[in-house]
Amino acid sequence: MLNIVLFGPPGSGKGTQSEHLIKQFELIHLSTGDILRVEIAAQTELGVEAQKRMDKGELVPDEVVISMISKIIEKNKNAKGFIFDGFPRTQAQAEALDEMLLVHSTKVDLLVMLDVDEEVLKKRLILRGEKSGRADDVNIEIITNRINVYRSLTKPVSKYYKKQGKSFPINGMQTEAEVYSDISHVMRKFVK
Ligand code: AP5
Repeated sequence: MLNIVLFGPPGSGKGTQSEHLIKQFELIHLSTGDILRVEIAAQTELGVEAQKRMDKGELVPDEVVISMISKIIEKNKNAKGFIFDGFPRTQAQAEALDEMLLVHSTKVDLLVMLDVDEEVLKKRLILRGEKSGRADDVNIEIITNRINVYRSLTKPVSKYYKKQGKSFPINGMQTEAEVYSDISHVMRKFVK
């Protein structure tokens, strides 16, 4: 298996790059944000609870996302690998992911860190909000809160992977094609 964590602040391009990478490397794209939005659209109990946090730009509780991810890994244990997009976002999630993968004798191979300046992130998300109407993109206060939550709770998680020599920074302010080219260059080193 090839397991990659696409890491970076809101609007850094994780979803955009995942779409390209799953085609090239035949991996399963696992976006916790997308899964939660499906639950919200279906107005499940989980979705209704998650929406209260997401609409404010706060994280959904660890146990909720860990359980979602665990079920999907279990269902796809014969996959070529996964792209984790938006997960893990806390130290507890990172440790839980290691345990889930270890059960299947596999591990996180690399973390790709998309670096983008805060002003660029805000512009991208406001622009997307105008078209998509995504509730957490329409208001600058919520966007700012998401970025602050990323800085305080999520960014420190990258150190966990850096210590293991698995973290690869990429300039996320280049064009989509340039970012994609840099990521696939790094990933090819891990493909057997
Ligand atoms: P999630 O859906 O994961 O949102 P996010 O992290 O805020 O990320 P985005 O989807 O906004 O950005 P992205 O990095 O994927 O960028 P994208 O490619 O879309 O999470 C939403 C919420 O769910 C969280 O706030 C939290 O409440 C909850 N949640 C999710 N996971 C959780 C977890 N593990 N634990 C707890 N809670 C969780 O691009 C953004 C825009 O920029 C697009 O318009 C795109 O076209 C554009 N763009 C992309 N690349 C470029 C480029 N190179 N140049 C110019 N424009 C670009």
